[in-house]
Order: sequence, then C-alpha cells, then structure tokens
Amino acid sequence: MKHSKVIGIGHYIPENIVTNDDITKFVDTTDEWIRERTGIEERRWFNPEKDTVANMSTRAARLAIDRAGIDVKEIEFIVFATITPDYFFPGSGVLMQRELGLQGIGAIDLRNACSGFIYALSVADNFIKTGMYKTILVIGAEIQSSALDKTTAGRNTNVIFADGAGAMILQATEDQDHRVLSTHLHSDGDHAEVLYARDPGSSRKVRLSKEMLDGDTFKVQMDGSFVFKHAVVRFEEVIYEALAANSLEKEDIDLLIPHQANLRISQFVQRRLNMPDERIFNNIMHVGNTTAASIPIACSEAWEQGKIKDGDLICLAAFGSGFTWASALIRW
Ligand SMILES: CC(C)(COP(=O)(O)OP(=O)(O)OC[C@H]1O[C@@H](n2cnc3c(N)ncnc32)[C@H](O)[C@@H]1OP(=O)(O)O)[C@@H](O)C(=O)NCCC(=O)NCCS
Repeated sequence: MKHSKVIGIGHYIPENIVTNDDITKFVDTTDEWIRERTGIEERRWFNPEKDTVANMSTRAARLAIDRAGIDVKEIEFIVFATITPDYFFPGSGVLMQRELGLQGIGAIDLRNACSGFIYALSVADNFIKTGMYKTILVIGAEIQSSALDKTTAGRNTNVIFADGAGAMILQATEDQDHRVLSTHLHSDGDHAEVLYARDPGSSRKVRLSKEMLDGDTFKVQMDGSFVFKHAVVRFEEVIYEALAANSLEKEDIDLLIPHQANLRISQFVQRRLNMPDERIFNNIMHVGNTTAASIPIACSEAWEQGKIKDGDLICLAAFGSGFTWASALIRW
C-alpha cells in the first residue's frame, strides 16, 4: 500500500501586529493577565483591505510549493480546514483553488475548528493511501478577529483568537521511513455549545437578522475553564492513542506540536508527558490561537528554525470546538 509523505510546509500571518497593550485600549484587561493566563504577548489580526482567508492560504500554499520544489500543477486535490470561510458558501477551498490557477481539481472544506487541520491531514493521507490522488494540498486558515466581541464582555476570547494560514503538501510514497504513520480523530457533540458562534445559523426564520447583529450571538462564545479541563485530558489521551497504535513510547517523539490553544494547556500536557522544553514547540506567544491554522503555522515555523529534521518523529495533537480532538504521528 502507498503512504503519504510531507514534501512541503508554509505559512502566512497578517502583517498587522496587535499587542496586549493594544487590546487594553478597548478592553478592561492587562498585559500581565493575558501573559499569565494564556502565554500570548501579541497576535496578528487581518487587514480587511488586504487579507482574505483564501489569499492568506494562497500565500502559505505558494511557500509550501516552493519548498517542496514542485510545480503547482502537480497538485491534484485540496483539503481546506476553516470555520471562518470568506463566504457563508461556497467554502474557501475553491477560492484558493482559483487563486492558484488550479480550476478543475477537487476541493473540500472541513469545519472541525481547532482539530480541523489534523482532520484535513487525515482525509488527504487516506485519499493518497487508496491511490485516488498522488499530491494533495492541505490547508488550515482562519480569520477569527472579525467575529470577536472586542469589548470587555468578550475578554475571555478576544485576547486569545487570531488570524493566519498554514499549508502542507502530501505526496504518495513507497518510503517507509518518511511518511504519515497514523491519524486519530474524535468528537463529542454533547459540548457543541461550550465554544461556538451561534449565528448566522440556517435553522432560524431568517439566517441573519438585525436582532442577531444587535446582539452577541454571531460572536465567539466560550466557557474557558470548561474547555481547559477537557482539553488537557483529551490532548494526553489522543497522544497516547497515536503512540500505542504505532508501538511507540513518548520518549520516541522528537517534537510535539500541539494546537496552540493556550500556553498553559501546552505546558500542562508537557508536564503530564514529562517532556523537556526542546521537544515541544509553542509559538502562541507571538501568533495567538489561530484555530485550524495553528498547527501548520507552528510546523512551518518549527521547520524554518531547524527544529524538524529529516526522519524526526513529529506528533501533532489538537482539541477544540465541537468538541473535537485529534492526533497524528509523522515520520518527517
Ligand atoms: C479563557 C481563559 C484564559 C480564562 O482564564 P481562567 O483562569 O479560566 O479565567 P476565568 O474564565 O475563570 O475567569 C477568571 C476571572 O478572570 C476574568 N477575566 C477573563 N478574561 C480576562 C481578561 N482578558 N483580562 C482580565 N480578566 C479576565 C473573568 O472575568 C473572571 O473574573 P471574575 O472572577 O471576577 O468573574 C482560560 O479559561 C482558558 O484559556 N481556557 C481555555 C481556552 C482555550 O484554550 N480555548 C481555545 C480552545 S481551542
């Protein structure tokens, strides 16, 4: 059976830096509180004149294509993870496909929030394993900042969430030593409303009303401490699941790249796994929580910094809205 191999990785984050001090200008919070509770020092929020989910993804994809050393036309399929598409429909996958000049190939959007990138990776990996496609572009991209409550009432979300895009290219391989080893996907809809944006929703008299816009229901709503408690358990569980599936031990992981939800969550997981600092990668300090974009942005930055080397065992893990949680093991 064929396997899939990562041949390129890239990312793009908007130029517009928003520091914690910037947020204190419109929210009752402090730099100290945000750093202590989330680890975030600054994040990027998009420029509505310039950035779209699709064009940020296109920039990330072009970098990944360059680094892979392939021609864009070799891409046969796109799997696009986002919960913040440019339009209510169609998804942003087709918009990016248009920007890349790849009209005609298939493109799907996946809506699995913070776990979205690993879900997308899993879909791509399995399409390659069946022999359906040889080269697939996998994207995680979000613009969260336009749906945040930027008042003090929204201070448990507006300090956390941010914008950006990441891209990974998977290609079919017979090489056992460089491949995606496995992916593990989970969800529990019992907690769907713990972290969500209710509107615009289709099961209303009208999908979008003046009342919705005057209210809070289109903004991101989250019970932060409930999310935190579930996240730390699920992260650990799904990492051990991936290791067990491959008869590996936690000591075999060269680099753990957790979804950048909150630095305290990553540190908690790191302590539980008893991992030294050099074997876990965090960049939430300057990127914030970019939902589906967080893992590919982190992979791209880790790769740029020389922290992912040929043959390394990389573990990806995520938890988020849904709830959904997921992991992947990659022999890079
Ligand atoms: C959001 C989060 C940082 C809040 O931290 P916390 O320690 O749980 O704080 P709580 O929500 O219990 O709130 C504690 C107090 O801080 C206040 N607070 C919340 N956000 C604040 C902010 N930005 N600045 C100052 N105070 C804030 C609350 O109003 C509350 O005040 P009160 O005690 O007077 O009511 C934390 O719950 C968290 O990170 N959860 C996980 C979220 C996450 O990762 N989401 C993404 C999943 S993909």
